[in-house]
Amino acid sequence: MKQAKRILEDNWTGAYTKPSPGLYPHQWNWDSGFIAMGYAHYDEKRAMQELRSLFQNQWENGMVPQIVFNPEALGHYFPEPDFWQVPDGRLTSGITMPPLHAIACLHIYEHAKSTSRAPDFLREIFPNLVSLHRYLYLNRDPEKSGLAYIRHPWESGLDNSPAWDVPIGNVVVDRKNLPPYRRKDLEHGVPAEQRPSDADYDRYVYLVDLFRRHGYREDEIYRECPFLVQDVLFNAILCRANRDLSEIGRIIGEDVTEVEEWQQTTSKAIREKMWCPECRKFESIDLVAGENIHTATAASFMPLFSGAASEEQSGILYESMNSISFCALRQGNCFTIRNYDMTREDFDARNYWRGPVWININWMLSQGLKEYGYREKSDAIRRDMIQLPIRFGFYEFFDSQTGKGYGAPGFSWTAALFLDLIYEYYERDPGYGKRTGKRHALGKKTILNLDRKRSHAGSSDPAGALMASITGLRDRFCEMGRGLVDYEAMKGSPEYERYRDIAGSLRFFNPKTLSPPEEKKAFWVNLYNTIVIHGIVELGLTASVTEVADFFINIAYNVGDYQFSPDDMEHGILRANARPPYRMSRQFAKNDPRRSLSVEEIDPRIHFALVCGSRSCPPIRFYEAEKIDLQLDAAAESFVNSSEVIILPERNKIFLSQIFHWYGKDFGTREAMFSFLMLFLADREKSEYLEEHMNDIKVEYLFYDWNLNH
Ligand code: GLC
Repeated sequence: MKQAKRILEDNWTGAYTKPSPGLYPHQWNWDSGFIAMGYAHYDEKRAMQELRSLFQNQWENGMVPQIVFNPEALGHYFPEPDFWQVPDGRLTSGITMPPLHAIACLHIYEHAKSTSRAPDFLREIFPNLVSLHRYLYLNRDPEKSGLAYIRHPWESGLDNSPAWDVPIGNVVVDRKNLPPYRRKDLEHGVPAEQRPSDADYDRYVYLVDLFRRHGYREDEIYRECPFLVQDVLFNAILCRANRDLSEIGRIIGEDVTEVEEWQQTTSKAIREKMWCPECRKFESIDLVAGENIHTATAASFMPLFSGAASEEQSGILYESMNSISFCALRQGNCFTIRNYDMTREDFDARNYWRGPVWININWMLSQGLKEYGYREKSDAIRRDMIQLPIRFGFYEFFDSQTGKGYGAPGFSWTAALFLDLIYEYYERDPGYGKRTGKRHALGKKTILNLDRKRSHAGSSDPAGALMASITGLRDRFCEMGRGLVDYEAMKGSPEYERYRDIAGSLRFFNPKTLSPPEEKKAFWVNLYNTIVIHGIVELGLTASVTEVADFFINIAYNVGDYQFSPDDMEHGILRANARPPYRMSRQFAKNDPRRSLSVEEIDPRIHFALVCGSRSCPPIRFYEAEKIDLQLDAAAESFVNSSEVIILPERNKIFLSQIFHWYGKDFGTREAMFSFLMLFLADREKSEYLEEHMNDIKVEYLFYDWNLNH
């Protein structure tokens, strides 16, 4: 976090933040939106200043320019004001960018610590935001289609995306008539192979020249411009920005009828006009050629971010995102979503918008996926987005396969969005977060199986009945592959009611009758996994087990004559009465009769079988005494080969789940822990590497995500 903040500090100019120190020395439009979202968490004044600086340069017609030039930093970038020649000698470029600003402003408001500053800021900026959106509807949608057009690839923010190959091909350039220019982007140490080509630049320049010849008059440009595209990404952001702008209006008591209409029209237009049923994706529309642009970029998924995609469309998009084309879950050889389908011949892992991974795109997609219920995918993307800069540096973009960083180093939006992710999802629950419940304290123990109605529901074999009932729950409500549990649907279902009946009868069950260690292990692991579910459902938790204080201590079952909380089951019984992490003494005190129930030896594999109701824990499974040995092997194997264990030979580092940190002792020495990993690692090369480097490989621990696994 320190490093990310330092990058923003170094790129801060006093009024706004440069995207990067060398390559981009001025203020960029959507960069400022992303950057402000990072500042929002720790320096809201600066977040507001970032956007204020940009809007101070808004044109009279409402357009917010793509670049605001710093008069003191001129000479290192092309094209600068001398080339743009915009009206009134403004120090800006003459095009715009995806209108992310309302989204950023709402984000600032939502995270603001001061209660008056943020609403004041919203009141101040609301008219500017409305005027920007109105500009787009009036000037960029002359046919009233609900979709705004862009007239330069730079307006998309994805300069040389493969999506522009066809429409930019329509821009026929005669070099003789092109105004002379010199590219400066190649003078900052970024290799040409990571940047747009010279042919691209000729076309970029041609378009700028056309705009200035027409004095930036939109109606003339609309008639003459050979590049006019209704872009999916641009319109998806506009659609989402309308939604957030309405919310801002409501917060400050302004009339939002017009904004709501914009939102509905654009949302419908995206859903209906941009969807290509045969190609099963959203497509941008080339207004010059009058046809859809068939391509396979990540921009096609953006209607998830705007909320414009229908449920059915979202499912289709998910399938495509979660395939090897873009990086599937647990695929193991890729990070996040690439910007272009890697199975395409012209996929280029290193070239700018033609293949690499970009943090801003993934940030938006992870939000969209979450809203449509694809939480596991959304989380996996978030985890990757955090790991990429930690391991490879805060670069402009990354190689999806190796993680290597490309383009400009010290890149502001990578740092800002990294900070947003850390604050938003991880900092809330630092370290062993399950011990620090926040919202409401349970106060005393809640015994979950003390329902009077059920007190006589004895069963001759409660352990067996319980297992059968757990199977029923699992089959109906747990998505085994994705490790998710549908808590909401479970509540009130007959399966759940039956489970509660049986849980009630546990009071008449003597746990001493479980004698072979296998029986004990299976019984207590299953019971742990279900009491956690029971607790989540009964307490109505919706976000995380950290919603209540000491969840794992304060819920319990009566089993026979004793009470057992999840911590009693885990540390007292299954970990052979060991000391829980961050506590001074063993779980069961010396004279605690429950000590006689503990297993004799810790089997570290249980850590991959205990499901703590959170995303970073292993997926739920059901254990049977006769097969438990194999089943625990399978649980360990799947965990060790998931993204919770990452070996990077090129950096001589191994990244491990916090489980290995908290319970390191259960595995024995460092070597024993590595041997354990080697036993289960499927990748032979990695396993051999680990064996060779046992003594010098550096261990780091991954973040633990305590959000509910629903
Ligand atoms: C490039 C990117 C654009 C970004 C700008 C500054 O032009 O394509 O999205 O805003 O650099 O970082």
